[in-house]
Amino acid sequence: MVVSRMTERITPASRLRGEIRLPGDKSISHRYAMLAAVAEGTSRIHHYSTGADCKSTLRCLQALGVHIAEEAGTVCVEGVGLDGLTEPAQMLDAGNSGSTIRMLSGILAAQPFTSRIGGDQSLSRRPMRRIMTPLAEMGAEIHAREGQFPPLEIHGRPLRGIDYTLPVASAQVKTCLLFAGMYASGETVVREPVRTRDHTELALRHFGAEVVVEGKTIRIQSRPRLQGRELSVPGDLSSAAFFLVAALIVPDSDLVIEGVGLNPTRSALLDFLASLGAQVNITSLREMAGELVGDIRIRHSRLKGGVMEGALTAALIDEIPVLAVLGAATEDGLTVRDAAELRVKETDRIATVEQNFRRMGLDIQTTPDGMHIPGRQKFRSGEVDSFGDHRIAMAFAVAALAAEGETLVHGAEAAAVSFPEFFTVLREICR
Ligand code: S3P
Repeated sequence: MVVSRMTERITPASRLRGEIRLPGDKSISHRYAMLAAVAEGTSRIHHYSTGADCKSTLRCLQALGVHIAEEAGTVCVEGVGLDGLTEPAQMLDAGNSGSTIRMLSGILAAQPFTSRIGGDQSLSRRPMRRIMTPLAEMGAEIHAREGQFPPLEIHGRPLRGIDYTLPVASAQVKTCLLFAGMYASGETVVREPVRTRDHTELALRHFGAEVVVEGKTIRIQSRPRLQGRELSVPGDLSSAAFFLVAALIVPDSDLVIEGVGLNPTRSALLDFLASLGAQVNITSLREMAGELVGDIRIRHSRLKGGVMEGALTAALIDEIPVLAVLGAATEDGLTVRDAAELRVKETDRIATVEQNFRRMGLDIQTTPDGMHIPGRQKFRSGEVDSFGDHRIAMAFAVAALAAEGETLVHGAEAAAVSFPEFFTVLREICR
């Protein structure tokens, strides 16, 4: 698919006001769709993510013989049961979506057929050994370009349960193995170095699987009977992050973001912002299918600086580009350590953040696994680029709100990977 490059012009904002709702959480949408596909009976998933990544997951599932209909934000999936997927006629296209390829591979590895799955240029550079090694240990046969990059050719095999310690914290890899574990003989045990987002564990349980969590160890039993469900996806906290930072850096801002997912394995963002001095309040806290949901109110605040490292970095990994922007507006700056994973995201996000910082006249020092951003900086207007990365596009559109003049965001179409409505919502609250 050829997507033409779009440029968004962002003018500085004098204040941000309003009540907004965001698309359904990307992480949860992928998981619900995949589990609904291999459950028995029909699932209806309301407020499914509108992002291109989650559409890639639906397209792959359809190519595996699953009937899926979409209407007004609700996705209706006719589950085929654990053994009902059929051999795809063509290569499965995961687009830009690391979640789609890594999580779905766990299911594909156990099928009685061969499948091939690949994606766009960015996805074709992302490391897959992290799933290939444990899946091979379970008995799967997977071939990759140069032994580690997509496209993958997955020869499904009968799998056996393993006890696997993840060398790198990754919820995608954990999910891949838990999904493979549904098909494996015996028990599958996944041990995490730090606790990552637990949407898979919650969703598996909600669909009817037996999953036991003890600290950082997760166990799944073989061949669960998954039942189709009626579900509603909470708003995406990682998308909310752009508006939280925007409200914090634009004076006189006061925003409410309604119905946001506040799963404790994701919401370290709010605690981190509060620790810097952000005025952030949560109301209407409720639970949906084991996931916490609430409304967030955020007001412009004077922020001191901070350090992010270890487990905190892992918990905030998707939010670092926009937090880097925030760092430049704090009193004392922001230091990020232990973030080597940023180098293998949709882009090398340490490099792409650095390039856009320079283009906006902002100072940043980078290291192989982190960055230091001095505080109290002046944002100059200029021309920034998404480099094809949705979170870079949105992070620098937010930075542009605090610049002295108009900023051009080139490659702005990338935002659609997780948040097609981003620029429209941004314009609505600039008043
Ligand atoms: C995700 C896990 C994270 C995150 C990605 C979504 C998930 O990736 O960066 O955007 O839904 O499990 P890793 O598993 O590579 O850390």
